[in-house]
Amino acid sequence: MKQDKKIKWGIIGLGNIAHQFCADLLLVEQAELYAVASRSLEKAKAFAEIFQAQNYYGNYEDLFNNDDIDIIYIATPHDSHAVLSIQAMQHGKHVLCEKPIALNANEANAMVAVSKAQKVFFMEAFWTRFNPSISEALFKVKQQELGEIKYVNADFAFHVPMPTPRMIELKHGGGSLLEMGVYPLFLAYAILGKPKQVLAAGNFYENGADKQTSIVLQYNNAQAILHSSFVSPSNMVATISGTEGRINLNAIWHEAQSYSLIKNNHKVDYALPTLGKGFTYEIEECHKCIWNNQIESALWSHQNSLDLIEIVDAVREQTGLKFPSE
Ligand SMILES: NC(=O)c1ccc[n+]([C@@H]2O[C@H](COP(=O)([O-])OP(=O)(O)OC[C@H]3O[C@@H](n4cnc5c(N)ncnc54)[C@H](OP(=O)(O)O)[C@@H]3O)[C@@H](O)[C@H]2O)c1
Repeated sequence: MKQDKKIKWGIIGLGNIAHQFCADLLLVEQAELYAVASRSLEKAKAFAEIFQAQNYYGNYEDLFNNDDIDIIYIATPHDSHAVLSIQAMQHGKHVLCEKPIALNANEANAMVAVSKAQKVFFMEAFWTRFNPSISEALFKVKQQELGEIKYVNADFAFHVPMPTPRMIELKHGGGSLLEMGVYPLFLAYAILGKPKQVLAAGNFYENGADKQTSIVLQYNNAQAILHSSFVSPSNMVATISGTEGRINLNAIWHEAQSYSLIKNNHKVDYALPTLGKGFTYEIEECHKCIWNNQIESALWSHQNSLDLIEIVDAVREQTGLKFPSE
């Protein structure tokens, strides 16, 4: 596809994150919000009016069948990510699918296989990977500015007195681990790779979904301590610590607007405010990959998503969290 042609986006599942994402989509010059689909036609019409989408549908199938759409953003509950991504790719569409990529590695493998078979671009919407502060921190780690990394500490926790059914029902993959825990796991993985050992424990609601989960990732020469929770807040600052210094990704770290580098008791602050909320960067990455005929991003590849969900599976193995479809 030529770079001078705008990329036509279709959005399915018009809930909380679809609203935030579309506000950012409008900030990206080469993006065109072409169509939106909901299970409710009135909801789709109202959403299309807010964001000036050209087409709207009262079911997802009609959007899949629109031949003009280039890429579909899937913003539905976790348990539908695999089915809907696969359906979209089988219609020849590129796909950006919300995190977590799927309920488990089996589903994620099936999604990647369809991307390869159909030769369409497919990426998990791990927007944090493209956040400017995090990109710069990862670059500094790679350049060994912190020496050898020994410790990563990250959490994602706030008090949710009344989680929605989507957040808590096991059939949807509910609980804090898949909703938020994937972010701390992402940071440890992005810096230290796949761990040698996963240790984890959780506290659970009566229905079996996790209220809070704490994780130790054990590496040959490093450790990560990670936490997610619906029942109490945390500072949401993440620390990457090495033999020569440390980086604090400032709150809220997974959508950081700044970070601090501390070496020899000297602290330097770097402000990197995002364009919009920060979904703009993953959107631009999708465009680049589509223009270059790539089926995956080098920055957040199929393998990266598969590794991450395998670590999530290992955490669940430890805590005993199982979903009904498994
Ligand atoms: N990247 C991020 O920062 C971020 C933040 C929050 C959430 N997320 C991810 O995005 C996904 C959606 O989260 P959300 O907070 O936007 O959820 P939400 O507000 O509940 O919206 C989800 C939408 O999915 C559609 N849907 C389809 N089948 C459904 C079902 N059986 N039950 C409920 N909704 C259904 C609905 O849209 P229609 O009624 O229009 O069909 C609903 O509005 C989740 O996988 C979550 O992990 C990502």
